[in-house]
Amino acid sequence: MAFRARHLLGIEQLAPLEITTVLDLAERYVDLNRRTVKQSDVLAGMTQINLFFENSTRTQSSFELAGKRLGADVMNMAVANSSVKKGETLIDTALTLNAMHPDLLVVRHAASGAVNLLAQKVDCAVLNAGDGRHEHPTQALLDALTIRRSKGRVERLTIAICGDVAHSRVARSNLILLGKMGNNLRLIGPPTLMPPGFAELGAEVFDDMREGLKGADVVMMLRLQKERMDGGFIPSMREYYHRFGLDAEKLSHAKPDAIVMHPGPMNRGVEIDGELADDINHSVIQDQVEMGVAVRMACMDLLARNLRAERGRRIVETLV
Ligand code: NCD
Repeated sequence: MAFRARHLLGIEQLAPLEITTVLDLAERYVDLNRRTVKQSDVLAGMTQINLFFENSTRTQSSFELAGKRLGADVMNMAVANSSVKKGETLIDTALTLNAMHPDLLVVRHAASGAVNLLAQKVDCAVLNAGDGRHEHPTQALLDALTIRRSKGRVERLTIAICGDVAHSRVARSNLILLGKMGNNLRLIGPPTLMPPGFAELGAEVFDDMREGLKGADVVMMLRLQKERMDGGFIPSMREYYHRFGLDAEKLSHAKPDAIVMHPGPMNRGVEIDGELADDINHSVIQDQVEMGVAVRMACMDLLARNLRAERGRRIVETLV
């Protein structure tokens, strides 16, 4: 099988063929999800635990629906507001859950690297649902599927990622994925929100929206991550909207058929004009939500196959 990963920790570890495998399988789940009866038994008998140390509505519900539609027993553990903050406690939580024999563990954590650490301590397959500023692999995969369905391909496109790049795991995972697939990448934002190393990932950097959007096929907006800032990054929200908020005029510099994306939740009137966000001629924001469930189903399906195969091998080893 073309998908070999044991865990889904980041896009970094995936080969282009593995990415395509996820997208192709996700297409099948898009069809299933559009039927009245959406049930499958791919994960029947398996236990999925969603362990969210950070608040989340859409990602958690997307993973929950994905697991339920595949027939898994799904449990949500909301630890966002508990006092679980220290590394030791994270590991303790992982070990406690591990003793309950889950098969899939979906984890979101505010610290970059926390999910990788946790994956080393458990026997099940771990899916990263966002760790700090590091990676958010299922978001990049659902964005890739949205782009591929809308543009017919996810290669050789000019893609502009705009806004708060510095604090964004979405930007990071997307840059890695879209770079691996061979696209022309641009980053647009104020220099204060542009981390130094990102240009090395092969992207051209702009601090002027009109210039950076010229000829773009895809315009990916990012949420201004107010909770990850400690002040001084932007002069004011109004000023930010004026220079970097996407509106119809700025978008007119991109290709006429450019699509507009946003991972949500949106700050309307800060990074994007509210009307443009709802304009179905350009906006694919609701498609992204739909693709999210399908992509997560595909990822969990593929990881479950690998998990079963690995457990099968272990049983054989004990017999010989
Ligand atoms: C993203 C996240 O949490 O990183 N949102 C999401 O997954 N729904 C982007 C964001 O919070 O801005």
